Amino acid sequence: MLPGAPHLARRAGALQLDGVPLAALARRFGTPLYVYSQAAMLGALAAYRRALAGRPHLLCYAMKANANLAVLQTFARAGCGVDIVSGGELARALAAGVPATRIVFSGVGKTRDEMRQALDAGVRGFNVESLGELQRLSRVAVEAGATAPVSLRVNPDVDAGTHPYISTGLRDNKFGIAHDEALDAYRAAAALPGLRVTGIDCHIGSQITQVEPFVDALDRLLDLVEAVEAEGIALAHIDVGGGLGIRYAEESPPAADELVARMLARLDARGFGGREILLEPGRSLVGNAGVLLTEVQYLKPGAARSFCIVDAAMNDLVRPAMYQAWMAIEPCTERAAPARPWDVVGPVCESGDWLGRDRRLAVEPGDVLAVLSAGAYGMTMASNYNTRPRAAEVMIVDGEAVLVRERERVQDLFAGERLLAG
Ligand code: LLP
Repeated sequence: MLPGAPHLARRAGALQLDGVPLAALARRFGTPLYVYSQAAMLGALAAYRRALAGRPHLLCYAMKANANLAVLQTFARAGCGVDIVSGGELARALAAGVPATRIVFSGVGKTRDEMRQALDAGVRGFNVESLGELQRLSRVAVEAGATAPVSLRVNPDVDAGTHPYISTGLRDNKFGIAHDEALDAYRAAAALPGLRVTGIDCHIGSQITQVEPFVDALDRLLDLVEAVEAEGIALAHIDVGGGLGIRYAEESPPAADELVARMLARLDARGFGGREILLEPGRSLVGNAGVLLTEVQYLKPGAARSFCIVDAAMNDLVRPAMYQAWMAIEPCTERAAPARPWDVVGPVCESGDWLGRDRRLAVEPGDVLAVLSAGAYGMTMASNYNTRPRAAEVMIVDGEAVLVRERERVQDLFAGERLLAG
């Protein structure tokens, strides 16, 4: 089964997303092109919702995964909040109509300006990651005549068993306040004039494919909740972060409803059943809802390796180059010719510029390929390396393809630059 099914399917040889043939979209909008299924996003959200029904909760979509305004609007209209990590994401979320009262601000390096911007907007809360940040936030809030709602992001020191670059809950990661320092940090937060303690938070990593690390982290968090509340500091919510993985190849992550049910059972067992739960899923809501379309430019068969050179590159989708991530590559139209192994590479001047290696494909120049599971951390990590304009984005809404981001224009890329005088 294709990752992204049932929204992604092959019918009579043509790869379709929500019934729309992808090759036709490539012709209509050009390539490289990101295409998203709104129905797939809402379907992924529904799985979380099923398990959370009847529980006080807020799902804060981690918008770093895919920050297109139409994507944010889709989740906002469905009642979600968002998890942001910069002033830029705050501005985007507000522009998409996400109510500030549903925005939580995470990240280890918030600047004074970003704090002020978020306080002025009236965000729901700040996930604070250090003592220095607590002190700064308190000062900024006092200056603004406001009180900042804070949760401490605790580093539970559990191994999420994922790629080292995207594992965040180990003692030697830069993230969060160490578990054994968290009680002191809560005492400090409660004593600072500009702050109001509202909850506790953790996030242990990304593309996690097992339930156990989540439950272990939750247990560690609940130990702290007990200790903090024993001192008279109330924690109204527990934010369990994001991190649930998706299927790129052979992974079999738990379904979102199964994961949430297991975590809720743990909360119940420890007497926290009525507590408000916050979640910050990113990838699991959008990853398998999107594909990147690219056109084959040249075939370069060789004795050692054979290259299929396409018009998308590491600047469009950096995950393979950056994490050696394996993402499925499928032709949008099937050919009868026998398949053979190709390294699918982009035009960027780096040997690391590849999308997939050793992929068995029957292709010819002009064919359109789809990189699957590209809805998360695709466009948001795109760059202009080699002065390449970023791709356009299309969302399929009720069977209709809607352009939700125009292709960038070359002249915009250097519009802010200045030639030297003389
Ligand atoms: N909350 C916080 C505080 C985070 O740092 C992240 C992701 C999330 C939530 C959402 O995690 P998710 O549910 O998407 O796993 N660029 C990498 C992934 C980096 C994830 C960073 N933090 C990739 O392409 O695999």
